[in-house]
Amino acid sequence: MSLLALAVAGRGLVDPKEPVVYADDEAFLRGRAAFETLRVYGGVPFRLESHLVRLADSCERIGVEPPDPEECRELASLALGAAGEPDAALRFYRTAGRERAASPGLVVLVSALPDGLEEKRAQGTKLVSLLGVRAEVPWLLGGVKSTSYAVNMAAEAEAKRRGADDAVFVTGDGLVLEGPVTNVWWRRGRELFTPSLDLGILAGVTRETLLELAPAHGYTVREGAFPLADLRAAEEAFTSSSVRELLAVVELDGEALPRGDAAGTLQAALRQAALG
Ligand SMILES: Cc1ncc(COP(=O)(O)O)c(C=O)c1O
Repeated sequence: MSLLALAVAGRGLVDPKEPVVYADDEAFLRGRAAFETLRVYGGVPFRLESHLVRLADSCERIGVEPPDPEECRELASLALGAAGEPDAALRFYRTAGRERAASPGLVVLVSALPDGLEEKRAQGTKLVSLLGVRAEVPWLLGGVKSTSYAVNMAAEAEAKRRGADDAVFVTGDGLVLEGPVTNVWWRRGRELFTPSLDLGILAGVTRETLLELAPAHGYTVREGAFPLADLRAAEEAFTSSSVRELLAVVELDGEALPRGDAAGTLQAALRQAALG
């Protein structure tokens, strides 16, 4: 995503070409930082408050003082004004700060949306299942959006190496978790299924939005611990995330999955919720 504008706590707007993180910030040294990515529709960040709450939760889990939400809002509005792009991606990074200094940083980025998202939505996404961990113990940081995402990016790269677009993590005993940057859903009849948060997956804000929107469109949602075989046997499946929104899953481990109406219906409902 190309960077359009940048705002930094204590500095305000900063030229995106300027460096803003010290070499000895623990975010850089050890991946000790929390972040959020959300989508901006018509100049308005969608579900900003939910993202700021999750940012604070992530900070607490990694032992970093959460940022002041008001400062986050102000920096976001500065950066969005400078970017001048009403449909964009907005990211917050709360870094642990310089070693021994305990002075956490806050950086807010506005970037252009990735190219080709709507083409991808038309095509659908191909997934491969890869071994992931059920992060039940607190130090495995399940459900934490920290910048230690190298494992997630390596899984996505492995999926691409195998000719797919993305991965879906599955536990050693075959339970579906989530994608590297998405939550996963599937449908049988009028029932939607998605893995439950107690599996140590991220509480996606889009996931939460879909849980709210689904009943009005005639779907009931079951959250739980489901085997990969259920996803394979689905009548349709899709992923959800803030920037990519909903993408139909057209292939799993090299086998075609059917397309259905739920992904399109809920994608339209999400857009409607976002655009008011
Ligand atoms: C591991 C993981 N799961 C799920 C999601 C989807 O979350 P959201 O809908 O809040 O973007 C993300 C988002 O980046 C993620 O990193």
